[in-house]
Order: sequence, then C-alpha cells, then structure tokens
Amino acid sequence: MQDAPGAATFRTPADAYDRHIGRYGHELAQALIEAAGVRAGDRALDVGCGPGALASELAGLLGAEHVSAVDPSAPLAAACRRRVPGARVELAPAEALPFGDAAFDCALAQLVVNFMTDPPSGVREMRRVTRSGGAVAAAVWDYGGEMTLLRRFWDAAVALDPSAADRDESGMPFCTPGELGELWSRAGLADVRVVPAVVGAGYTGFEDLWQPLETGVGPSGAYVATLPPARRTAFKAELRRRLGVGDEPFRLTARAWVVSGRR
Ligand SMILES: C[S@@+](CC[C@H](N)C(=O)[O-])C[C@H]1O[C@@H](n2cnc3c(N)ncnc32)[C@H](O)[C@@H]1O
Repeated sequence: MQDAPGAATFRTPADAYDRHIGRYGHELAQALIEAAGVRAGDRALDVGCGPGALASELAGLLGAEHVSAVDPSAPLAAACRRRVPGARVELAPAEALPFGDAAFDCALAQLVVNFMTDPPSGVREMRRVTRSGGAVAAAVWDYGGEMTLLRRFWDAAVALDPSAADRDESGMPFCTPGELGELWSRAGLADVRVVPAVVGAGYTGFEDLWQPLETGVGPSGAYVATLPPARRTAFKAELRRRLGVGDEPFRLTARAWVVSGRR
C-alpha cells in the first residue's frame, strides 16, 4: 500500500504520538461519539485507530467485544491492540476494510480522513460496512484556524522559512466544513451535518510540548526532523514566542470539524 503524504510519519512509537496529538484524543473521541449518536448495544468500527483513543472510549461505552479497529501503521495498531484488550484490531487502510457489508452500526474516523490515500474511496468503504440507517462520522482538525498547536507551529515555520508553506497541514484536502460535507454527501450518506468540537490539552511547560516533536512524529515532527541544529533552535524559540508560553504549566485548545451522516 502506498501512503498518503504524512501517513508514513505515523509509523512511530505510540508514546511519541501520545505526547503530541494523543493528548487531545480522548476528549475529541467523546465529542465524535456524541455527534455520531453511538448508543449502548451498537457494534462500532474505529478507522485509522492509531494507539486507540477512540477505540478505548468506544470500548468503555459498548464493551470491547463490540469494537473493531483498523490502522495501516503496525506500531500504532499494535498499541491499540494492547490498550483495548478484547477489541478486534486489524492492520488495514480505510480504502480496503477487511469486513463484510453492513457489519457495523457505526463507522468512525478520528483525525484520519485527510491522511487517507484516497478519501472518497475510504469514506465509501466506511459506508459499505455500516448498516442501513447507521452513522458514518469523522473528526478533522481546523488546521487553518483554531487548532492552536498546529496553527502556531506552521505559522512559526513559514515565518522563518517560506518554503515550509508546502508542508503546512492546512493545505491538505478535506479539512474545511464545506469539503467534508461534500465528501460525505458524494459518498451517498444522508442527513449530513458538520459541527465544531473544541477540546483541550494540558502541558507541564513548553519543553513538554516540544520533546515529542523531536521524535519526528506526524507531519509537524517530520518537519522538525529536517531542521539542522541552528535552524531548529531558532524555530523552537519562534514557536515558543508565538504560543506565548514558558516553563509554567499551560493549556491549549483545539477545534475540530465533526462530520456525520447516515447510511
Ligand atoms: C493523526 S493520527 C489519528 C489516530 C487516532 N485516530 C487518534 O485519534 O488518535 C492519523 C492516523 O491515520 C492513520 N492512517 C493513515 N493513512 C490511513 C489510511 N489510508 N486508512 C486508515 N488510516 C490511515 C495513521 O496510521 C494514523 O494512525
């Protein structure tokens, strides 16, 4: 399978992901579950599960035996398997889900649609494996606006190096309410809605935010990994300045767009 741009950067250890975007995952999962109207008794699929924030919230609500999950990243799928014992976790991409038609009451994808190799095909697959009347839903960061960490990150990067604009994640497709709604409608889903969800994460200080980026995790960490030492130091200072934070604990908020529809 060929990765979408950025997807290969998720073939990293789960703890680096946890300390980067994973901090926001459980709160966002609760908002996605609520928007999709998931209820006790449902059989649910988590597409692009990563280390399992959404799968574990689903397991808490439904019981792990009612939860399946897929991810194309071997280390992240393995972490999800460990963290959500009893759930069925497969190594697979959204575009080729290893499940039969109408196998689930709902199919959810958290922070994944924009990383899919072929988002229209991935969403059609999510629809295929969902029963008639069931929910297909996803959350994607508001990269261009109020996902504070990533917006400040790319603004700092482009300020020091205009060529970093090519890597700015707000340039990825399917990151705006209009594009997401159209993607869902074109996949044949009904009652399509897009709503904002604002979540947050706490940090012990700027170093707590910075350290996971040094591991190369995600598109932002992959950018940091390209910087030679002097430019990395300058970028680190610029990011800290733009975030307006220091060595004291702080909290950042992050807005996502949550799209949902019915099969
Ligand atoms: C930002 S992470 C989100 C992980 C998890 N859903 C969460 O909320 O923490 C993006 C995930 O999408 C996965 N991914 C990339 N391409 C994919 C594809 N074509 N189909 C399904 N998942 C994919 C990556 O391996 C990674 O785990």
